[in-house]
Amino acid sequence: LRGGTDKEVIVMLRIGLFGCGRIGKVHAAAVAAHPRAELAWVSDPVLDSAATLGDRYGARATVHAQEVLDDPTVDAVIIGSPTPTHVDLIAAAVRAKKAVMCEKPIDLDIARVDACWKEIAELSPTVMVAFMRRFDRSIRALRDGVHAGQIGQLEQLLITSRDVAAPPRSYIAVSGGIFRDMTIHDFDIARFIMGDVVEVQAMGANLIDPDIQAEGDVDSVMVTVRSADGALCQIVNSRRCVVGYDQRIEAFGSAGVLNVGNHVPSTVSRGGPGFSTSSDGYVEAWQERFANAYHAELDHFVTSVLAGSAVSPTFDDGRAALLIADAATQSLISGGQPIRVVQDA
Ligand SMILES: NC(=O)c1ccc[n+]([C@@H]2O[C@H](COP(=O)([O-])OP(=O)(O)OC[C@H]3O[C@@H](n4cnc5c(N)ncnc54)[C@H](O)[C@@H]3O)[C@@H](O)[C@H]2O)c1
Repeated sequence: LRGGTDKEVIVMLRIGLFGCGRIGKVHAAAVAAHPRAELAWVSDPVLDSAATLGDRYGARATVHAQEVLDDPTVDAVIIGSPTPTHVDLIAAAVRAKKAVMCEKPIDLDIARVDACWKEIAELSPTVMVAFMRRFDRSIRALRDGVHAGQIGQLEQLLITSRDVAAPPRSYIAVSGGIFRDMTIHDFDIARFIMGDVVEVQAMGANLIDPDIQAEGDVDSVMVTVRSADGALCQIVNSRRCVVGYDQRIEAFGSAGVLNVGNHVPSTVSRGGPGFSTSSDGYVEAWQERFANAYHAELDHFVTSVLAGSAVSPTFDDGRAALLIADAATQSLISGGQPIRVVQDA
């Protein structure tokens, strides 16, 4: 037990954070706001990044990840560093007996993902993969409604996910392609709602950014996915949307439909002779659209680790989403052939 007063003992989870970039800042803020979590350390090879974030939340800052892992008072770590660093940090943290929450994707290479699991499995690790969309209130309510039979038998799932603007060429170059980098969130949400996926068919196009084409990637994709239960899912991704961050889901079933719509900065609308219109586009920032999800995700991690109960999404969920992304990549390369997804290791 750490922290607390004589009257009330508060159990605090002491957390170390790896990576102080875009997502690291989001996780640091969530930890700082959580009543049962404490940001003990932040680590980043760029000292300025670590020091600035550490100062903001009263955490110790280091450029050496090992220093965080060597601290016996650290209970858990959040891995928000670049994807190629994930598997080594997961393995090192598990060996140091820390619970882990790791950003998506676990890695770009399924062989490295499997080697990581082989290395840590016998230690019965607590590893959660940070697919935060599962914790978004609206997406979770839609999923709960589907599972409760509110729309009868699920037949078709439509997921639209468009970013506001394409990332820089340097990011695209190491992203592993749109399916492993971006669509992986939607593959996970498809599994969350429909269960396991058995078949994937993908088409892509270069309609937006010549830099993306120059890196051998596509910027606009449509992917059709078949679930083990036979339902179909259509995923639409674009690297650009001038209206804002476009995140919609429709679950269509034998007895009805459930929809998640876009968030708008305000609900003000304007009317005049012969027209009425909403005056705002969609919210622009993913950090804002999914703010509730990042907090709920962290709350699940903290609560589960403190209680010693299972975390979800699991390492295996991260692996399953990557396998679907690999199949989609294969389908795209083959000119749109349907590809079976085999989940067995
Ligand atoms: N779930 C989400 O919504 C979401 C959003 C963005 C990024 N991500 C994922 O988070 C990860 C990081 O992405 P980002 O956009 O924050 O990148 P970023 O480039 O903004 O930040 C990464 C930071 O990690 C640091 N770093 C590099 N090597 C490190 C190491 N070995 N240990 C600790 N820190 C290290 C870098 O110096 C940098 O400050 C990626 O895996 C990405 O896929 C997830």
